[in-house]
Amino acid sequence: MTPPKLAALASPGRSLGGPGGRSSPKLPGATDMLSADALLRIDREVAKYPADQKQSAVMAALAIAQDEKGWLATETMDFVAGYLGMPAVAVYEVATFYAMYNLKPTGRHKLTICTNLPCALQDAVRSAEYLKSKLGIGFGETTPDGLFTLQEGECMGACGDAPVLLVNNKRMCSWMRPEAIDALLAELRGAAPGGGGGAS
Ligand code: FES
Repeated sequence: MTPPKLAALASPGRSLGGPGGRSSPKLPGATDMLSADALLRIDREVAKYPADQKQSAVMAALAIAQDEKGWLATETMDFVAGYLGMPAVAVYEVATFYAMYNLKPTGRHKLTICTNLPCALQDAVRSAEYLKSKLGIGFGETTPDGLFTLQEGECMGACGDAPVLLVNNKRMCSWMRPEAIDALLAELRGAAPGGGGGAS
């Protein structure tokens, strides 16, 4: 599958930026959708690109929006499209292509385990089955207590550490065999308010 070509999404005629200005002017009601801090972070990403190519910041903008909202509702993606002056469908293409974007609410901890070949050769499929049995859910599902969502992932570029697992898209965990999985789940449950106590 070919990722969306971000450069091709640029449409200078639709840009909301003023001449020479790289940050996006605040849309009316922008702070109703995202906090001022999130908008500032998006503006910093936009400033990394030429004024007529701020659509190039779409991946970062979506990640920032997701950090704040927890997931990307259609209205959030539409807002990002308006903020960056790009077609909403182009934002949907990016958000639906990459597994790091949550298109529906997830549990507090989203666990994404890589099952591509190098990880599979190091027992990743067995680790995935172990996770399913420990959590009592399958891929794409969330535990009833809302603590964990389990997801199958693609290569994370750390094949030497296989099996590899990501927590909430940001924390990479290496050599995730049953013993390490047990320790991770215990840690994450312990970090939950009230000490957790989900499915086991
Ligand atoms: S195949 Fe799993 S990290 Fe590369």
